[in-house]
Amino acid sequence: MKSILLTGGAGFIGSHTCLSLLENGYEIFVIDSYINSSRKSLENVLKILKKKYNRNLKNSLNLFEGDLKNVRDIEAVFQKANEVNKSIEAVIHFAGLKSVSESMAYPLCYWENNFYGTINLLKIMEKYNCKNIVFSSSATVYQTKINQLLNERDKCSPVNPYGQTKLAVEKLLKDIYKSAPSEWRIACLRYFNPVGAHESGLIGEAPFGKPNNLFPQITKVAIGIMSEIKIFGSDWPTPDGTGIRDYIHVMDLSEGHISSLNYLLKEKPQMITLNLGTGKGTSVKEFIRTFEKINNVEIPFSFVERRPGDNAFVVADNSFAKSILSWEPSRNIEDICRNGWNWQVMNPDGY
Ligand code: WQD
Repeated sequence: MKSILLTGGAGFIGSHTCLSLLENGYEIFVIDSYINSSRKSLENVLKILKKKYNRNLKNSLNLFEGDLKNVRDIEAVFQKANEVNKSIEAVIHFAGLKSVSESMAYPLCYWENNFYGTINLLKIMEKYNCKNIVFSSSATVYQTKINQLLNERDKCSPVNPYGQTKLAVEKLLKDIYKSAPSEWRIACLRYFNPVGAHESGLIGEAPFGKPNNLFPQITKVAIGIMSEIKIFGSDWPTPDGTGIRDYIHVMDLSEGHISSLNYLLKEKPQMITLNLGTGKGTSVKEFIRTFEKINNVEIPFSFVERRPGDNAFVVADNSFAKSILSWEPSRNIEDICRNGWNWQVMNPDGY
């Protein structure tokens, strides 16, 4: 039997993708350092599956605590998978630090975790002849365009260390692919803005400390943990003057990973880069108003200076992903507000 390894599988997107993989009958291995996640997320994944299918899939979810900076931690997982005759056929590589502001303060830490950790992973994959990988990249690699959708052929020019590490891994993967194009199957998935939570409210986004991103702050203001949203700039070149982003429901994103994995394992060796976004933009003020309407709560806000490195408009052209993956986001901003609030109410302190 074959299996799939998820690095960072206990994290926000990783845990939702674990759920989708188990629902699709995959055997999975997870390696996670818990630097920015909790193993409780995966305990709750099993609870969701037990409630929904009355099946205990504990034996299909093999969890290892480990850090990609330690190559022996990675090798231990591949060795165990072979011992139990579930050799790892493909890797979905989520593990990495992901705060733009933090990366500007601690670039060395970001390069060590996000780039050096990936080098260790790829060395072990080669050693165990596993040459199929889905990589968690980001729209932050793009040089943004004013009021135009971004496509995979657009210029990449990251403006922060986090984005630089993501683009550097893409370039490393390109070099590896070109060194053996008849052997490697690689998908780089450029996420736009992942938000929301599974409808059960048992898994969701649980950032440690004060969240940097907008949506987890909206839910914390709604529940009273934070007092207001400080909107970064009211004079952007957008209809209501606030920043516009492409918010994609985390379940649509996790299903995009399943589609990418199935595509790679079915098709000939190749390397593809795909935008995983909805193609629709929502401004900060629209997001706040929608959340207030859907959940009948008030979200106080005030306007402050623009945040360094911010842009007016970051929205995906997702036509290429839709065409080759037969995947299409099905959840909208109202589903995001409803599911994200349900998770926050059920888990005021996260996991
Ligand atoms: C969204 C909008 C802000 C906070 C980042 C990363 C990206 C990805 C998603 C990993 C913007 C505004 C925000 C606040 C605000 N992460 N905002 N007040 O910056 O689009 O993307 O997270 O892949 O790589 O760059 O997300 O949620 O921080 O901001 O007004 O307190 O909300 O200006 O318009 P961002 P965000």
